[in-house]
Amino acid sequence: MPVLNDRADSSMPGGEDNSVMIGSADFGLPGGEKIRGLLHKLSEGYHPSEQEWRFLIAGEYDRNLLYTKADEMRRKQYGTDIYIRGLIEISSYCKNDCLYCGIRRSNSHAQRYRLSKEDILSCCEQGYGLGFRTFVLQGGEDAYYTTKQVAGIVQSIKERYPDCAVTLSLGERERTDYEVWYKAGADRYLLRHETASKEHYQKLHPPGITYEHRMQCLRDLKQIGYQTGCGFMVGSPFQGTEELIADMKFLQEFRPHMVGIGPFIPHYDTPFREYAQGSLTQTLTMIALTRLVLPKTLIPATTALGTIHPQGRELGLQAGANVVMPNLSPPAVRGQYSLYDNKRCTGDEAAEGLEELKQCVAAIGYQIVVDKGDSRMKTDV
Ligand code: 5AD
Repeated sequence: MPVLNDRADSSMPGGEDNSVMIGSADFGLPGGEKIRGLLHKLSEGYHPSEQEWRFLIAGEYDRNLLYTKADEMRRKQYGTDIYIRGLIEISSYCKNDCLYCGIRRSNSHAQRYRLSKEDILSCCEQGYGLGFRTFVLQGGEDAYYTTKQVAGIVQSIKERYPDCAVTLSLGERERTDYEVWYKAGADRYLLRHETASKEHYQKLHPPGITYEHRMQCLRDLKQIGYQTGCGFMVGSPFQGTEELIADMKFLQEFRPHMVGIGPFIPHYDTPFREYAQGSLTQTLTMIALTRLVLPKTLIPATTALGTIHPQGRELGLQAGANVVMPNLSPPAVRGQYSLYDNKRCTGDEAAEGLEELKQCVAAIGYQIVVDKGDSRMKTDV
C-alpha cells in the first residue's frame, strides 16, 4: 500500500479550498513584513536561500499577498491579455511507461488513436477560424511519426498559416530531430522536466528514462532556438518541499520561455492510482512564485488545474498565469487522450467553447486576444 501524499487537501469541488482567493488571513503569523519584503526582492531577481524558499513554498503567510504580487507582475509584463493555444493531441500511443501517466505503454485499457496529417490540418483550419494563432501538436512518444513526417506536417501548417506559431510537444527525441523540425518552421517546444530532483525523477519513471536525458533535451531545444517550455506537476508522489525548491532553482537557472504547472491527478489504470491529487493552493503558489521569478515567461492555467476545481483556471490566471490551451482535437478522440482521471475536454476547455471562455476571462478582468503570443523572454542560452 503506497504512502498517501500528506499534502492532499480538499481541493475537489465543494472542498474547503474554495475560498482560496479570499480570507486565508495572516492569523497573526509572524512574517507579514517578511513575506512582503521577500516577494519584492524575488520580483527583482533575487535568489532566495534554501530557508527562504522553504518559507515561500510552505505558504505559512497570507497567500493573497503572493497572488496579488504575481498578478501585478503579469500586468506589468503582458497587461491583461490572455493568449490562447489550440491543443491538438495527435497520438495517444506512447512507448514510455511513466508511472503517473494514463497513456503509459503498459496501460492495456488505454484507448489508442493517431491523427493523420489531414486530421491535424483540419483541426488547424477550424482553430484558425475561431481565432487561434498557435497550434500545439502534443502526443505520446510515438515512433510511428517519423522525423520527416512531423517536419512535413509542421511545414504544411506554416505554409497555410504563416501568421501562426507551431508548438511541438512530442517528448524526448534526438537533437537532430529537433533541428529538422525547427528548420521546418516549428517555433516552440514543450517538454516538462516533471521534477528537478534526480532522485525524485527516478521514482516517477521506470529505469531507462533518465533525468539526464530529459535535461539534455531541454538544453538542446533552447540552444537550437526554440521558445522552450518546461514544467512540473505539483503534489506528485514522493514530492515534498525540497523537490519544489529544486524546481524553483532550476527555473531560475534555466530561464525557460514557458512553464507548465499543474496538479498531479491520479489515473485509475496506473501504479499511482492510490495517491492523492495535488492541491489547488500549492499549485497556485507555485504558479505565482514562477511569475515572480520569471516575469516574462508564459504560464498556462492548465487543464489539470481546471479539472480539480471548477474555477481552477480562473484562479490560475489570477495567480499569474496568462495562457489557456483549449482542446482543438477532433471531438471523437478527445476522451481517449486520458492522462489522468476526469480530464476536462468539454465546455470552455474545448475550442468550440471559446465564447464561454472569453466570458469567464472577461468576468475576472482579463481578455482573450487573437495573437501569436510570443514569449518576451530574451533568448539567452
Ligand atoms: N496528473 C497530472 N498531470 C499529468 N501529466 C501526465 N500524467 C499526469 C497526471 N496523472 C502531465 C505530465 C506531462 C503532461 C503532458 O501531462 O506533466 O508532461
